[in-house]
Amino acid sequence: MEENQVSQLSLTTAYCRAYHASHDNPKIFNDFLAPFLFTEEEHKLRIQKIMQGIKALQPERASSFPDQETALAWFMQNISAAPITLSRSRYTEDILEQAIKRGVQQYVILGAGMDTFAYRRTDIVNQLQVFEIDHPATQAYKCRRIAALGWETPSNLHFIPVDFTNGDLKSALSACSSYNPKALTFFSWLGVTYYLPQDAVFATLRTIAKIAPHGSSIVFDYFSTDAKKDISVKAQLGQQISIQVGEPLKSFFDPSTLASDMSQLGLLLAEHLSPPEIESRYFQGRADNYHATQNTHLAKVVVE
Ligand SMILES: C[S@@+](CC[C@H](N)C(=O)[O-])C[C@H]1O[C@@H](n2cnc3c(N)ncnc32)[C@H](O)[C@@H]1O
Repeated sequence: MEENQVSQLSLTTAYCRAYHASHDNPKIFNDFLAPFLFTEEEHKLRIQKIMQGIKALQPERASSFPDQETALAWFMQNISAAPITLSRSRYTEDILEQAIKRGVQQYVILGAGMDTFAYRRTDIVNQLQVFEIDHPATQAYKCRRIAALGWETPSNLHFIPVDFTNGDLKSALSACSSYNPKALTFFSWLGVTYYLPQDAVFATLRTIAKIAPHGSSIVFDYFSTDAKKDISVKAQLGQQISIQVGEPLKSFFDPSTLASDMSQLGLLLAEHLSPPEIESRYFQGRADNYHATQNTHLAKVVVE
């Protein structure tokens, strides 16, 4: 990402959560605050762009939709990033709830984007110190948006800007007086590994393995190497969009070697969900057309 560039994909994933919260049932993940992150004007503009995109990509299909609502629902369920966005957030907060019961006191949200956890999960947030780490430009944008909304930032939420490609996560966390390096910590890293060079992904994981106490965990999602061979419309479109907005896909990992890759970093691969496993956990029995995203995996690793 460019130095002063706000992550457009963080707004896209927030829009997916906002759409799901206000249109779909049952909810895979209910981010009921996400719709507030967009002004009415921004909502209209996004819908306009999606409609233009459908017309440009699939003109025949576009003309077959009876109305805009149907077209939008088709796009969200079949083309957008909604399925992986919703399932990874749900997975993360499910695991976080269990982790709190096991004594986790800190939650570090890496590449937080427009994550609303600290404002939304009033049932558990008081049990944690929460640290949102993000690229400086995206974080500054989010803070401005929250100020404009008049949301009160809880005193246990701390915003820390870091660029994973050239910043120092360890120093940034250590400089925050509320961060306790001895406390059991839960990290999430959602929708970020895709856009970083592989060495930056491994370097960040290695840093966490060194600074967080034994038993701390990290949840992240990633694209498998098979995604590079995916020639489906959805995959091609995803690649085109990420290039257009200046956040091209950079890293893919081999699921069959993930456990040994993690082990070399000092991390134990404790849970690893493939698309069929994500499908059966979060998408089964739905009457709509949301399904787990091809070639996208979820991993939970634990500091050894
Ligand atoms: C697709 S968004 C995902 C946001 C959020 N985690 C979610 O699931 O909606 C990618 C996030 O990674 C962050 N990011 C990308 N490159 C980064 C970098 N080099 N350093 C820090 N953050 C980065 C962006 O600012 C953005 O918030």
